[in-house]
Amino acid sequence: MNNKPKDIAVFVAWPYANGDLHIGHLAGAYLPADIFARYHRLRGNRVLMASGSDSHGTPITLKAKQEKTTPKEIVEHYHKRIMEDFISLGISFNIFTLTLTRNHADVVSEIFLKLKDNGDLEVKEEEQFFDEKEQMFLPDRYVNGTCPFCGNTRARGDECEQCGKTYDVTEILNPVSTLSGTVPQIRKTEHFFFNLQSYQDSLREFVDSSTHWRNSVQNFTRSWVEEGLRPRAITRDIDWGIPVPLKGWESKVIYVWFEAVIGYLSATREFGNHFGDSAFWETFWKNKETKSYYFIGKDNIPFHTVIWPVELMAYDAQMNLPYDVPANQFLNIEGEKFSTSRGTAVWVRDILEKVSPDALRYYVTSILPETKDSNFAWDELKARNNGELAAAWGNLVNRVMGFAASKFEGKIPSHGEFTERDKELYHTRDESFKRAILAYEEVRLRDALKEGMGLAREVNKYLDEEAPWTKFKSDPVASGHSIYVAISVIQSINILLAPVLPFSAEQIYSAFGGEGDLFPKPELKSVQEESDMHDIMLMNCNSSGKDRFEHILPESGRSFNRLSPLFAQIE
Ligand code: MF3
Ligand code: ZN
Repeated sequence: MNNKPKDIAVFVAWPYANGDLHIGHLAGAYLPADIFARYHRLRGNRVLMASGSDSHGTPITLKAKQEKTTPKEIVEHYHKRIMEDFISLGISFNIFTLTLTRNHADVVSEIFLKLKDNGDLEVKEEEQFFDEKEQMFLPDRYVNGTCPFCGNTRARGDECEQCGKTYDVTEILNPVSTLSGTVPQIRKTEHFFFNLQSYQDSLREFVDSSTHWRNSVQNFTRSWVEEGLRPRAITRDIDWGIPVPLKGWESKVIYVWFEAVIGYLSATREFGNHFGDSAFWETFWKNKETKSYYFIGKDNIPFHTVIWPVELMAYDAQMNLPYDVPANQFLNIEGEKFSTSRGTAVWVRDILEKVSPDALRYYVTSILPETKDSNFAWDELKARNNGELAAAWGNLVNRVMGFAASKFEGKIPSHGEFTERDKELYHTRDESFKRAILAYEEVRLRDALKEGMGLAREVNKYLDEEAPWTKFKSDPVASGHSIYVAISVIQSINILLAPVLPFSAEQIYSAFGGEGDLFPKPELKSVQEESDMHDIMLMNCNSSGKDRFEHILPESGRSFNRLSPLFAQIE
């Protein structure tokens, strides 16, 4: 390894535990995060990939109402299912926890109180809708009405899906409570407000220095900052959430977005505690060499590039701010806008009944909405699997292995002196690796995948030209030589593609006699916290100390196991 191993934090948006994992989640955040984390692990870096179930907020209480059960039941049910889906898909968290833990509530309270003591919070009176029938203040999402900007009669709470504008919930026209169907009344209530505006200059400086951010993320954030930061209410009048940790305020909770982002920090602490290292979190949060990446969908941008950085600045000036926030655009399904409520969701668990996790990962990686919205289509998934993944890559591996198995006794043949043609192939490989590494580092994962597939085509071309299959009869030594060269490049391609295709990469790696595993595997654990039990996903983050991107020449004479056909045809 040329460079000293680095510490890389891979943080991923916390999914609401109110439904199963769908393909939009996968393309927006979880798959890119996993590919990026695996890339860094293969480089020998120490990676902490962390997230958890977002357990509070109206998305959870609304679902509980619909299902006639409690928010806690909903969270526990979906949290478990989400983790099962992550395991099936190979989404390799070092920790995936949830915001229901005591640990999280403690860290949130600590930050809230620190901000209050610093003078960053302020109590203000606010007008809010009150449902007389239900005897409660209505969260924004519980109010429907007419958009004050475009007249859309199906506007929700404080934002309009039709014109995209946001407004104060009390500005909505013809308000109706979604709980009781009655017309809510405006009442006064007190809340804590976070004075974001005090950090206007520091935030601008932070955004200005983040020139490596994606354009969409830069522009979006810049326009937020230019509009001027304003105080934001960070408490709510509902009974599901983390209670405000102050006397007389127990009936109010901390706003879900204010506390969920704190999960990145609380999960890091929880991770350290599980491995008996309570100071662990400081490496990832205070060490200036550590870089943190936040994988999110574009609807989450302001929370990660404005609110969370300001929370961090206000909490402790030593905290690392996000290094990169590679937010993705949206994924449409069969040409339609994605929507869970309209039933166009494609559930990950349903897809995995029909296709292998690597086939799904391959297709979704090839269409990641990195720069613009993209489209998921079943026909295309099939075509890409059968015509690209299986044809160019799987078939290459199987063909070379099959040939060596039958003609060279299942051993890696020996090689002679490398010819100009061999050197040309190695050179192509090296150039492609340079581009792929840059693409991985810059989170251009579609490009990284393209490099791997391009190289597979180069090896196919090489084999077409060298034709070891026909040469074998007349010149078995020359035939073995070409197979040797092909195997050496195939092993490198396997590493290059491994972040995208971890299941088959592991098979190919061990079939060629690789030692140990390429990747560590997370486990599901039940952990006791005072009187509460939680299921979490956990995996240590020790680095292998090896840079697997260094090319190794295969050992001639070494036996290998022939693999059955990779990437079965999808009908
Ligand atoms: N639960 C939110 C969503 O699904 C994302 C929260 S990200 C966090 O949109 F960082 F705030 F947790
Ligand atoms: Zn509107």
